[in-house]
Amino acid sequence: MKGVILAGGLGTRLLPLTKVTNKHLLPVYDKPMIFYPIQALINAGIMDILIVTGGNNAGDFLRLLGNGKEFGLEHINYTYQEGEGGIAEALGLAKYFASNDRICVVLGDNIIERNIIGAVAAYRKQKRGAKILLKEVPDPERFGVPILDGDKVIKIEEKPKKPKSPYAVTGIYMYDNRVFDIIETLEPSERGELEITDVNNAYIERGELTWDLLDGWWTDAGTFESLLRATDLVSRTGANNTD
Ligand code: G1P
Repeated sequence: MKGVILAGGLGTRLLPLTKVTNKHLLPVYDKPMIFYPIQALINAGIMDILIVTGGNNAGDFLRLLGNGKEFGLEHINYTYQEGEGGIAEALGLAKYFASNDRICVVLGDNIIERNIIGAVAAYRKQKRGAKILLKEVPDPERFGVPILDGDKVIKIEEKPKKPKSPYAVTGIYMYDNRVFDIIETLEPSERGELEITDVNNAYIERGELTWDLLDGWWTDAGTFESLLRATDLVSRTGANNTD
């Protein structure tokens, strides 16, 4: 399985912090934000990693990460997203990197207390389809929210005003190679973007989406509140714990 980290976007919710740098290069406690998703993949044994970035500061990722020596890697792959087409469009750029392999996708602003070792192992045994990770949160309306029927996810709603469950769909997704065909069928949403939620709903319609609950705390870091929370959580417990 290969890893893809999505680190594009303009980060407008963090202006003026993101006026002269990319959101994923901002500090979360003692490290740049992007360090956390990279370590999460490595902890799960995923060492072949692509970083998809964009905007005016893409070169800074190379300067910061190089070939990943600090993480014990020999090489990191990079690609560039032109424009603001959304998470699913950014993922579409990973097609050539993925080749025929499966991928584990992590949004560059998602940080976890523990690890995804168990979920990745379970997905390796899954014959086909996708796997998502859910986390109970106090504010599901900020996220993709699953509608559950028993233990089946029957639909995901993107930022619903009235969430039908207390769970967020975290920004950690596992896909088989058909994800790239699905992305090609997507139409832009109301916010003009190709939505990752539409990708996941396509797998649900095929009856090929499984889910796990994520262990430990989870947070995004794309708003002032969540960036502060991320810094606070990391300073207390550390992130990406494997014990
Ligand atoms: C994105 C996804 C959303 C998901 C969230 C996790 O939201 O669209 O479904 O729950 O990431 O961080 P965005 O960060 O683009 O608002």
